[in-house]
Amino acid sequence: MKSKFFIAACAASMLFVIPASADDTPLAKQMEIMNDAYKAMRKEEDPAKGAAFAKEAQDAMVKAIVEVPELVKAMPEGPDKSKASAEYRKMMGTLISTLADMELAFLNKDLAKVKTIVDQMKEAKKQGHDKFMKEEE
Ligand code: HEM
Repeated sequence: MKSKFFIAACAASMLFVIPASADDTPLAKQMEIMNDAYKAMRKEEDPAKGAAFAKEAQDAMVKAIVEVPELVKAMPEGPDKSKASAEYRKMMGTLISTLADMELAFLNKDLAKVKTIVDQMKEAKKQGHDKFMKEEE
C-alpha cells in the first residue's frame, strides 16, 4: 500500500518537473501547420490546390512572426536579444514573401518556378532552424 502511494506521489511530482517541450509553443504549432503544407506543396501539381497550400502556410507564418523562439526568450535582456529577435522577424518576413511567390507560381501554373521556390524554402528552413531552434535534449 505504502509503495503504491510512493509511486503515485512520484508520478504526480513528475507532472511538475517535466519541462514544456518546444512542441507545446504557439510557434511550434504554426510551424507544424506550415510543415504539412510544405510537404503537400512539394508534390502538388494542381494549381488551385497548390495555391491553397501556399496560402495556408502563409497564414501560419503570419501568426508565427509575432512569436518569439524559446531560444531567444531564454537570452538575457540586452542588445543581443533585441538583435536576435529582429533577425528572427526578418527571416520570417522573407519566408512569408517566398510563400506569396509560391502561391503566385501555382496560380500562374509555373511548376518549374514552384520547384525553385521549394529549394528556397528548404534553405530557409535549414537556416532558421540552425539559428533559432534548440537542439533536442
Ligand atoms: C520551410 C520552412 C520551414 C519549415 C517547413 C519548418 C518546420 C518546422 C517544424 C516541423 C518545427 C518543429 C515543430 C515542433 O516542435 O513540433 C519547427 C520548429 C521551429 N522553427 Fe521552423 N520551419 C521552417 C522555417 C523556419 C524559419 C525560417 C524559422 C526562423 C526564422 C524557423 C524557426 C523555428 C523555431 C524557432 C522552431 C522551434 C519552436 C519554438 O522555439 O517554440 N522555422 N519548424
